[in-house]
Amino acid sequence: MRSLLSIFVIFIVLACKVVAQERISSFIPSSAPDRIILTIKGDPSTTMAVTWRTDTSVSESVAQISQNLPTVFLADSSSVVTGTFEDVEGDGVVGRFHSVNFTSLRPGTTYAYRVGSGADASEWFTFKTASASADPYTFLFFGDSQMGTNSLFSRVIRQAYRAVPDARLMLFPGDLVDGGTGSKLQDDEWGEWHEADGFINAEIPVLPTPGNHEYYNPGDRTNRALNRYWKPGFTLPENGPAGLEETAYTLDYQGVRFIIVNSDVMLRSEDLTRKQAVWVEELLKNNPCKWTVMAFHHPLFSTSARRDNQTVRESLKPLIDKYGVDLVLNGHDHTYARGMIMPDGEEKKGKRAGTIYVVSVSGAKQYQQDAEPWWDLGLTNTQLWQAIAVDGNELEYRAYDASGTVVDQFTLKKKNNGNSLLNNAR
Ligand SMILES: [Fe+2]
Ligand SMILES: [Fe+2]
Repeated sequence: MRSLLSIFVIFIVLACKVVAQERISSFIPSSAPDRIILTIKGDPSTTMAVTWRTDTSVSESVAQISQNLPTVFLADSSSVVTGTFEDVEGDGVVGRFHSVNFTSLRPGTTYAYRVGSGADASEWFTFKTASASADPYTFLFFGDSQMGTNSLFSRVIRQAYRAVPDARLMLFPGDLVDGGTGSKLQDDEWGEWHEADGFINAEIPVLPTPGNHEYYNPGDRTNRALNRYWKPGFTLPENGPAGLEETAYTLDYQGVRFIIVNSDVMLRSEDLTRKQAVWVEELLKNNPCKWTVMAFHHPLFSTSARRDNQTVRESLKPLIDKYGVDLVLNGHDHTYARGMIMPDGEEKKGKRAGTIYVVSVSGAKQYQQDAEPWWDLGLTNTQLWQAIAVDGNELEYRAYDASGTVVDQFTLKKKNNGNSLLNNAR
C-alpha cells in the first residue's frame, strides 16, 4: 500500500512538472491578435510594417488599411493586405507571428489599420507615414527595459506617449527583455513587455536592436543564440551586413540617418565586427542626411570602471570621429550618463561639438556607477526616457526621469560647414 502511495505521489509530482513545463506562460495566444507592433521595413514615407501574434487556428495573415477618414465605415474604404506568418514553439506554446508590409502609401499621411479578420479583427489603430522631406519631428529613446516591464517600465513608456503623442519612432537599444533562447523562451517576459507598451507599439513604429540578453539562455550561458521571437516578432529592414538581417540595419527618416548596429555579435565574432565596420563606413561616407544617430547596446564609454567594450569602441569610434556622428545612444550599463567626446587627439575648444554619447536605462534593473571623466551628468537608480526633436539645423535632446522631470538637456546647432555647436543647457 505504501509503495502504491509512493508511486501515486511520484506520478502527481511528475504530472505537475509536465504541466508546469507545458504552460509556464500567462500570455497564451488565441485567435485574437495580440503583440501588435509597428516597424518600418522599407521607405518610411511609403511603407509601414505590422507584426502580430495569434494561435495556430488563424491560417491567414490579413490586415486592412485606409486613410484615416472620420467615417465609421473605415472598412468600406480600406484595402486588404495579406502577409506571411511564422510559428515559434516554446514553453509549451506555439505562437503564430503574422507580418504585413503596407506599401505604396502616401508620404506625410495618417492611416488607420487593423489586423486579423472577422470577429477576431483588432481595433483600428492609426499611424502617420514620414514626409518625403526633412520636416521637423521627435523620436523617443528607451534604454534597457529588461526587467519588471509591466510593473515599472509601463509608467515610463506611457508617460513618454502622453508627453510626445506625435513621436514618430521609438528606439530600443537592446535588453528589451531579460532572457530566452533555446527551448525556453520566457514568453512571459515578452508578454509583459507588450502589455506595458500596449497600443503605443501599434501606433508608433519601433526600432529595436538586440542586446546581450536577447542572445542569453539562462539554462546555458555558453550557448549564445538570437532570441527566437526576434525575427518573427519584428518586421525589420534587411539592409545590414549579411548574417545580421533584422539586427543591424539603417533607416533614413526626415533628415536623420539612423544606423542600428548589432554590438553583441561584435564581442565574439571578428568577421561580424569587420563586416559591420565596413557597412557603417559606407553609410557614413555616402550620407544624404543632415543628422546621424547611431544606436546599439554596448556603450563605447561605460558608466562603470569594471565594464568596458573595447572591441566595439575600437571598431566604431574611428568612424564616428572621422564622419562626425552627432549622437550615439547606448544601454547595457543600467545607469544614465551623457557626455561629449571629441575625435581622438582633438581637444574640446568650443569651436565645434564632438559626438554626444548617451547611456540610459528605462526599466527596473539598476546598477551602481563610477564617476567617469567623460560625462557631463551621471544618474543612478533612475528610470529615464528621452525625446529627441530634430528641426532643420537644430537637434534638441531632453532626458526625462520617471516622474516626468527634465533631468538633462542640450541642443546641437548644425553650421553650414557640417560641424555642430553644443548648447549645454545644464
Ligand atoms: Fe546588456
Ligand atoms: Fe541590460
